Amino acid sequence: MDTFPLELRVNGTVHHVEVEHRKTLADTIRENCGLTGTHVGCEHGVCGACTVLVDGQPVRSCLMFAHQAANNDIRTVEALAQGNTLHILQTAFIENHALQCGFCTPGFLMLIVGAFECDPDIAGNELIDILSSNLCRCTGYQNIVKAVRSVADDLAATRAARTANARADS
Ligand code: FES
Ligand code: FES
Repeated sequence: MDTFPLELRVNGTVHHVEVEHRKTLADTIRENCGLTGTHVGCEHGVCGACTVLVDGQPVRSCLMFAHQAANNDIRTVEALAQGNTLHILQTAFIENHALQCGFCTPGFLMLIVGAFECDPDIAGNELIDILSSNLCRCTGYQNIVKAVRSVADDLAATRAARTANARADS
């Protein structure tokens, strides 16, 4: 099968790769960019393990060809932590025991990071609806919900404190 050159921007770095037109974004991220944090489970859009952000939107990377993402900014789970400092959602997953084998975890993290970036006020049943798009075979979901709700509460508290401070300063 013929391969074709492609520049893929992942986590702010341009990767020069050569891939078939039919190679998925998930496989290209893992095999050509060496970023194996993105997991591949069902390979047909059901489990969500392969979720990455494409221009800020959660996307199932097993359903997208790498060549379709040539002009997009892609973010994977490797981009969440800053050095040794974990993303607030990663910390919440640890504190709430929201993972066991961890296979589904990168997909859940990118799904929820994308959801919070699209709508910082998201909460309640809307969060549950979003979480229901990904599958976990270990946790029974309750601790994932707890972790995500704790982050939603923290974000809301931070926003409320900022508003109160702004009012006090004015
Ligand atoms: Fe992509 Fe399951 S591997 S949705
Ligand atoms: Fe094992 Fe979710 S923690 S599949």
